Amino acid sequence: MNTIIVYSSANKEGNTGKAVRELAQDLNAQTLFLDDYVIHDYSYEHTHKDDDFRTLFREVLQYEHVVFASPVYWYAVTPRMKAFIDRITEFMDDEMLQPELRILREKHFSILSTSIHRDAPKAFTDMLQKTFEYLGMTLKGTHHQQYQAQP
Ligand SMILES: Cc1cc2nc3c(=O)[nH]c(=O)nc-3n(C[C@H](O)[C@H](O)[C@H](O)COP(=O)(O)O)c2cc1C
Repeated sequence: MNTIIVYSSANKEGNTGKAVRELAQDLNAQTLFLDDYVIHDYSYEHTHKDDDFRTLFREVLQYEHVVFASPVYWYAVTPRMKAFIDRITEFMDDEMLQPELRILREKHFSILSTSIHRDAPKAFTDMLQKTFEYLGMTLKGTHHQQYQAQP
């Protein structure tokens, strides 16, 4: 199963980046760091349809298994990861784009999180799991890596 790890963090070389590189090696997966790109927030008018989002989403659709990876920042994913998820809504809004969105129904997804606690908060994993299941994807696994708090 070919895999891409889509990740975001305030620090590319931080805890999440480290966990992503380890998992990428284990799974022989590609990685995509969202914060290297311009992904604006969702707007009902699709004001930013020409930023990097659509190209990145179409790239992700090339893979059978997508790992969404983020640190836990106040029980939630990073703003860039949330923007990426919200922008998928554009493919629901637009009839011409809906066939591409339906490709997600053939895909598996996993969740990789990092935090200073042993487990990811339920609110964090629920949001990701419920969203991607709503979009028709099948959950394959969840991974959480605990790191020491920064001094
Ligand atoms: C803004 C912010 C909010 C955080 N909120 C939480 C939290 O709610 N629960 C938790 O266990 N750790 C929290 N942490 C700690 C991070 O989840 C943890 O250090 C994580 O591994 C950082 O990953 P990074 O190096 O990729 O940013 C927070 C850290 C930051 C910077």
